This record gives sequence, C-alpha cells and structure tokens, in this order.
Amino acid sequence: MKRIVILISGRGSNMQALLEANLPCRIAAVISNRADAQGLEIARMHGIPVAVIPHNNYPDRAAFDAALAEIIDSYATDLVVLAGFMRILTANFVERYRGRLINIHPSLLPAYPGIDTHQRALQAGTRIHGCTVHFVTPDLDHGPIIIQAAVPVLRDDTPQSLSARVLCEEHRIYPQAVRWLCRNQVWLDEIGRVASDRLEQPGAAL
Ligand code: GAR
Repeated sequence: MKRIVILISGRGSNMQALLEANLPCRIAAVISNRADAQGLEIARMHGIPVAVIPHNNYPDRAAFDAALAEIIDSYATDLVVLAGFMRILTANFVERYRGRLINIHPSLLPAYPGIDTHQRALQAGTRIHGCTVHFVTPDLDHGPIIIQAAVPVLRDDTPQSLSARVLCEEHRIYPQAVRWLCRNQVWLDEIGRVASDRLEQPGAAL
C-alpha cells in the first residue's frame, strides 16, 4: 500500500476530503508550514501524525524545501499531495519528487494560474470555471493535468459563492485522482505526459 503525505497551509478541507475518502493508501502524515493551520486539528482528530515546519525559520526557499524533503522522506513517502499548500517550491524539490507530487488548483488550468482565481474569473466574465488536479512541475500551476471538473458561473455569483461551488468539485476529484495514483492506474510517463491504463482519458471520466 502506498504511503502518502499531505501538505497544507490553512483550512484543510481538501485534506479532510482525502482523509474521509477511504483511499487505498496509508496517509502517513500531514505537514504544514503554518502552526495555526486549521487543518492540523482535523488531522489530529483523525489520528494522523502531524508536523509543522514554519517557513519563517529558514533563511531561504532552498533551506525550507530541504527541511521539508527531509521530513517527507522520513515517512518513506510514495506520493506527496499538496492540498492548499501556499508556498512556491524550488525546482530542486519539484524534480526530486517528479511524478510523485500533485496539486489541486481552483481553476480550469491553464486559465488563471496563481491566486484570486474566482475573482479573476468573474472579472473576465467567464461562463465556465472549475478546478484541476495536476502533477507539479517547476513551472507554477502548469503541470500535466490528471483530472478537471467544471462548474457554471451564475449571474449573481460572488467570489465566495463561486469558490464554494468549485470547492465541492475539488472534494470530489482530488480523492479520485489520488485513488488512481495509488492503484497505479495513472502515472507521469518519461516524456512528461499523463499516462493511464484506462481506455478513456483520465480527465474525461467525469
Ligand atoms: C483550495 O481551493 C485549493 O484549490 C487552493 O486553496 C484552497 C485550499 O482550501 N489551492 C491553491 O490555490 C493552490 N494554488 P483547503 O485548505 O480547504 O483545502
């Protein structure tokens, strides 16, 4: 059974969805870069070991990422799952976990990488919005896509109402993606594409 580590920075609702999804893996630990992340308490209540690595304690990103990698590796981790982890990771770190590091992002990538995705989608007048699970590459929010889910943008939406609609879909597709990875049904191939043992494209299985 694969061992996964979940990285969070705040609320932890995606982490909670993963903890409660009865996945075919062992969730070895939850790690946060912030001691006050609400998700830490949720993880503790689920009996998952937690660790905090405050990024402010390190002189630069490289030092923080080295400390993070050390603790991740101490759990004999097969898969690193970013769930609202709001730190940019160095290329060194990303390469170290090539094909074993995934992220969820609240937009239909490649649209709206970065922050404030819901507000930017509303400002642009877009009619369809959503979320994406992807392998992490050094190019921020641009890695190969594993699965996406779309939601309509409604006339009276605010960033909050749109975010809530997208979040429901995040909680559905992230466990699905992790399940595929844990069962070796989806992987990153040698040339950096998402490969699958399924007849259809993974992201088309919605
Ligand atoms: C989620 O919407 C996630 O997609 C987003 O942060 C939120 C975390 O919520 N991640 C990013 O924006 C990463 N670029 P959560 O802590 O309740 O899972």
